[in-house]
Amino acid sequence: MKKDLLSLLDLEKEDLIHLLERALQFKKRFNQGIADRNLTGKTLGLIFDKKSTRTRVAFETAMIQLGGTPIYMSTQDTQISRNEPACDTARVLSRYMDVLAMRTFDHEMVEEFAAASSIPVINALTDLFHPCQILSDIMTVIETKGGYQGKKIVWVGDGNNVANSWINAAAILDFELTVATPEAYQVPEQIRLNALERGGRQIVFSNDPKEAVKNADVIYTDVWASMGQEHEQDTRVGDFDGFQVNKELVSKAKDDVTVMHCLPAHRGEEITEEILEAPGAVFWDQAENKRHMHKAILETLILNNQK
Ligand code: CP
Ligand code: NVA
Repeated sequence: MKKDLLSLLDLEKEDLIHLLERALQFKKRFNQGIADRNLTGKTLGLIFDKKSTRTRVAFETAMIQLGGTPIYMSTQDTQISRNEPACDTARVLSRYMDVLAMRTFDHEMVEEFAAASSIPVINALTDLFHPCQILSDIMTVIETKGGYQGKKIVWVGDGNNVANSWINAAAILDFELTVATPEAYQVPEQIRLNALERGGRQIVFSNDPKEAVKNADVIYTDVWASMGQEHEQDTRVGDFDGFQVNKELVSKAKDDVTVMHCLPAHRGEEITEEILEAPGAVFWDQAENKRHMHKAILETLILNNQK
């Protein structure tokens, strides 16, 4: 039966661990010059309704390197923009392709596609979640910290799609997560409840970034206004006062703390230039690891659908 990846909660713990191990293997083999061509003859469709640099290119290069073919479609260039229903588009694309990665505003849109298609659907970011991002970020935590188990990861910023996916990951894997947001920008209550139901006991919610980062192994931040919220930008800059990841905040964490950001970053807003350009920064490793993780995701979902 086909499996989709719309939220990390779609995964069992062993699925998640498999993806991490497989992505690390793909990276190692790629760096040794070994070409894995496991997806020769397969086609990945990418339907993107929002801008993307990393996710799109990482999916496209992952598919090409595995021997397959990516086809990028902006929703504006498809009949979706002329209101062809998701259930019809999904059934049609299922006749051409082997897997679909989608970036949309409404999360319900990817759910509708997944329900109607016979091929796996991957969430490449919605307003609600960004699961592939967190998978590759945990891979970066493993490389940088030697493992994620028992580590304290602290989210500082908006309670957004990336934060929601960190919460989902913490509900499944054994690390501590503290989520520090301004009170008016907390993650939705339902996200917290779902995580709790799944076993995420080590998740702490806070409105005090200075307190939250104490003893942190990783500090993670993201833009204050996500795609689709640009009109709130000015208000948010005021509302997030005190939530900037800068030298002072970082100095309150562990001495060897790693700062992470999914990018794109707004220098001087959620993070300073100094932190972004610090020696040993892992932001570019995070971006690279998306390609290796996307290989693991594509391979797992496509091969699983053939069984
Ligand atoms: N981190 C990330 O998803 O970047 P893009 O928006 O460039 O894909
Ligand atoms: N929260 C950001 C992430 C971008 C990768 C957004 O949704 O715009």
